[in-house]
Amino acid sequence: MYKIVLMRHGESTWNLDNRFTGWTDVDLTPKGVAEATQAGKLLKEAGFSFDVAYTSVLKRAIRTIWGTLDEMDLMWLPVVHDWRLNERHYGALQGLNKAETAAKYGDEQVLVWRRSYDTPPNPLAEDDDRTSYKDPRYAGLDRAQIPVTECLKDTVARVMPAWEDSIAPAIRSGKRVLVSAHGNSLRALIKMLDGISDEDIVNLNIPNGQPLVYELDADLKPIKHYYLGDQAAIDAALKAVASQGKAK
Ligand code: 3PG
Repeated sequence: MYKIVLMRHGESTWNLDNRFTGWTDVDLTPKGVAEATQAGKLLKEAGFSFDVAYTSVLKRAIRTIWGTLDEMDLMWLPVVHDWRLNERHYGALQGLNKAETAAKYGDEQVLVWRRSYDTPPNPLAEDDDRTSYKDPRYAGLDRAQIPVTECLKDTVARVMPAWEDSIAPAIRSGKRVLVSAHGNSLRALIKMLDGISDEDIVNLNIPNGQPLVYELDADLKPIKHYYLGDQAAIDAALKAVASQGKAK
């Protein structure tokens, strides 16, 4: 049996402002930094250790893995930074306040943009300053690989190869793996791992900074999963994420 720990980054400045973030590279808040440390503490107390960590190329996930590994005295660990673990690109919504957007377009429409499987928000215009075309961290990619919007289906299509060609082989080779990523790149991974339907994935939310343990069989199929930490606090955090897209 294998175990993998998945973790959404701690609270970011745009989580705090309730803004659609996507590929925007915002940092953690002080609370987010504390969540990363707390995650390390919980993992240590539960007897976890790791051989390799995976994260995105966005600083909120990177700083989270730094905080967690620091707390576990594992800062020496190899860390793989893979753009394919980035948050789902939120297109023209990036930077907008979620509740204000719901007040303008309705809660239902915002739920579709946030949680539907195959309806992307409007794309960024090719000449929009918010595109990632000139960002040096994506210099090795073809222009067509750099999204200007994504639905979850698109995110699944890039997260899955990261799983298949990088993360899964590490697990099979006996490495203990920690992943620090994002709400929707983790929803993409979990949809695939648990075989969640396109309809049911609408109901899956991921809280910030909480280690989520997956126990996997020899074929890397999930046996069970659970969050470490206080379950009532996790339930409250899950509800809070779900209601971020509602008009106040
Ligand atoms: C974002 O990109 O805005 C968040 O990280 C995830 O947002 P969501 O929960 O609204 O999809």
